[in-house]
Amino acid sequence: MPGEGSRKGRRMAEHSAVAVGEQTRTVSLYRLKVDVEPVAAGGLTPALVELLQPKGLHCGCGTTLHRGWLNTDVCVLRGANGLRTDIGCLVRVTGRWFYQHDLSQPLPIPDGKMPRIFAEHLVEHLERRQAVAWMTEMHRMLAPGGILRLSTPDLALYMNGYADPGQAFFRRHRDTMRQMKSTVMGNSRAWMVNQLFRYWGHEWIYDQEEIVALAESAGFPGDAVRRVAFREGADAEMAALDKEIRRDESIYVEITKPGA
Ligand SMILES: C[S@@+](CC[C@H](N)C(=O)[O-])C[C@H]1O[C@@H](n2cnc3c(N)ncnc32)[C@H](O)[C@@H]1O
Repeated sequence: MPGEGSRKGRRMAEHSAVAVGEQTRTVSLYRLKVDVEPVAAGGLTPALVELLQPKGLHCGCGTTLHRGWLNTDVCVLRGANGLRTDIGCLVRVTGRWFYQHDLSQPLPIPDGKMPRIFAEHLVEHLERRQAVAWMTEMHRMLAPGGILRLSTPDLALYMNGYADPGQAFFRRHRDTMRQMKSTVMGNSRAWMVNQLFRYWGHEWIYDQEEIVALAESAGFPGDAVRRVAFREGADAEMAALDKEIRRDESIYVEITKPGA
């Protein structure tokens, strides 16, 4: 977040350099108040995934780790015991799995075995071509009949918000940004549109049509994408993971892999 941690009294945002393929990228580092415990010396393998039988894959989890899920993010977690993750590390945090991985890269997960995938406010952080590679991986890993639940800021909400001189949506969303302790804030409609495209590490912004195009480019049929509401959908357990704080600006879809 721009300016994150710059307010007096707040913890400074920390970052760390990690190697992704040939490149080095700077990612968030989170210091946890609990221990980080290693799970497997060799990291994650397809055989280990078969053994662990996760409920699903949680992509771009940040520090929100769900029990029984394979939670993954490029960010670094540092435990109270001093153990810090690196790319390729599989660890447990209070009994929850975390796999540090850059989602623009292939995952060591077998084909067609993942029952469900959850990705809340991740896809807008991937460059468009990386998003296609990521979605193609999700299509490969999903079991037939499995669902990918995706949420992301809705371009249509922002465009309609810009066209509204009363700023109903933008006023609501500024409240949400305050709840999220944003240290930057602008009052104009143009500022709200610019922050969507230029801040927070956003790379590409979607509406329903663009999500369908992304899904199709990764091998899903267009009619596999179904618009759903906040915390609603065919997979109720997964829908329940939606965060309230993301609700006002998000579009929610379920993308089903055919062939069950
Ligand atoms: C806006 S946060 C969302 C976190 C969480 N899903 C939520 O809704 O609170 C975006 C997350 O995507 C992760 N992310 C961004 N690019 C990524 C990449 N290439 N691979 C894996 N994670 C990535 C970031 O590290 C960050 O944790």
